[in-house]
Amino acid sequence: MAYVVLCLVRGVPLLAHPLPAYTGRFDVGAVDIEVPLDKPRLVTETVFKDSGEPAFEHKTTLFTVYYPVDKGVREHRPRHDWIARPISLTAEGYAKFAGVNNFIVRPIFTFALWLIAGGITIPAKVDVPLLNSTDDDDDVVPEPFPVMVFSHGDASSRTDYTNFVGEMASRGYVVAAVEHRDGSGPGSLMRIHGEPDKKILHFKEAELESVPPMDRAKYKYDQLAFRDAEILHAVAVLRAINDGKGEDVYRRNSRLEGAHLHAWAGRLDLGNLTIGGHSFGATGALQALKHAPSDANPAVGGIIFDPGKESGPLNAVIDVPLLIVHSNTWSKHKSAFYGRPHFDTVKELALGVLRRIPSHASWFLTSIGTSHPSVSDAPLLEPLLLSWTTGSSLDTKEAMKEYVRVADDFWHFLRTSRDTNTGVLAEKVTHEQYGEWVSKERKDEFPKAMAKLWEVHVSPVSDEEESDGGGDGNEKDSIAYRDYL
Ligand SMILES: *[C@@H]1O[C@H](CO)[C@@H](O)[C@H](O)[C@H]1NC(C)=O
Ligand SMILES: *[C@@H]1O[C@H](CO)[C@@H](O)[C@H](O)[C@H]1NC(C)=O
Repeated sequence: MAYVVLCLVRGVPLLAHPLPAYTGRFDVGAVDIEVPLDKPRLVTETVFKDSGEPAFEHKTTLFTVYYPVDKGVREHRPRHDWIARPISLTAEGYAKFAGVNNFIVRPIFTFALWLIAGGITIPAKVDVPLLNSTDDDDDVVPEPFPVMVFSHGDASSRTDYTNFVGEMASRGYVVAAVEHRDGSGPGSLMRIHGEPDKKILHFKEAELESVPPMDRAKYKYDQLAFRDAEILHAVAVLRAINDGKGEDVYRRNSRLEGAHLHAWAGRLDLGNLTIGGHSFGATGALQALKHAPSDANPAVGGIIFDPGKESGPLNAVIDVPLLIVHSNTWSKHKSAFYGRPHFDTVKELALGVLRRIPSHASWFLTSIGTSHPSVSDAPLLEPLLLSWTTGSSLDTKEAMKEYVRVADDFWHFLRTSRDTNTGVLAEKVTHEQYGEWVSKERKDEFPKAMAKLWEVHVSPVSDEEESDGGGDGNEKDSIAYRDYL
């Protein structure tokens, strides 16, 4: 009772913990951007059975950009809510997921969401100026920031990974977290200047009609095509901002943020663009990388967390370096995937990239002690609940630190002419199969601190390379290891 009273008096919700501050060198800014396409585009012909309205019509793309800002910069606007308003929309979507969307359940879900996380805000400063320079010397021409477009998983939205993307922003990356309107999220409000807001709720394949007839495969195909369109449009908007059209994007932005975007000209390093995603979002990211790097998608790398088990086939036609990270439970729980173990499919994908273009490296790792939601905000908000229900044993903040560190290492590799591997990325394979050391020698030489956290299934680092480098190579490894600690 005392706890409940204390929470109510202090205005903090009963259950969820507030999100922690970001830990990098810089503070973090956030801007919501929703801009319409020049012309709405039917991504597929699929319609809703009830209304005959198209289900996959792409009219606008909504994303939040997280970016580095000066430490201590003054904020003038309220922070973004972790659960988008109105809460009742998200609640209705979850009720639909649960198959109990009716007038009795909806208010109960709304109240529960409000109680659990209604007061949680995202600890990024809204619509503040982009960091001027990473250098203390004001005369230096500021370096542009590398960019990532990040795609969320099933039953999620753009705010489900704010800690991970904010941590990356606090280390000097600009990350656009897209909100997919492909029926996979609980609910999203589409906003266009001069038009009433449109509710987009979660929808199921049974509600749809298409040629060929709607089934699981066709539904996933439509959703992935839609996600691909949204990701590429987000890239196009970022490119327009970088090309000096920030003022125009601000004017077209129905979310009324981005007052400083005009000053972002030349500040985004789209030559170092990566596409990232988690779960269904990882499947979508692999899809979006199909023709990269190309004019539409200049991405030079992919950051792939727990690629989907039930989210359709995984595109393996990829010609850019990949970092694939499995959570422990994702590798451990064996599941069949198009007639073979999911783990083997993912490993084959990573090896395929490695073989196709040897200079383009690729990694497949398992992060020990984590579970499927570890990279999302959920375990930070509900640490106990999540570790009970999902079997994650690593401290949630530790797990997040590892994800951020390995993504940072991967970026470092991409940005340094691809010849410096740091941290676990400098390691040779330790486990070809999950849980089975390749040899006793490898087990003995693999740093113990790292063995508690990682298994390496695919790595471009091999014995030949090491003997080529001689003493040099060893030295590099040990520096990497020291950095790591
Ligand atoms: C950033 O640089 C511009 C131009 O040099 C200057 O006008 C502005 O005040 C600087 N902003 C900050 C926050 O230092
Ligand atoms: C990627 O970043 C590095 C380091 O800042 C830079 O030297 C390189 O030119 C960038 N790549 C492209 C293609 O712009």
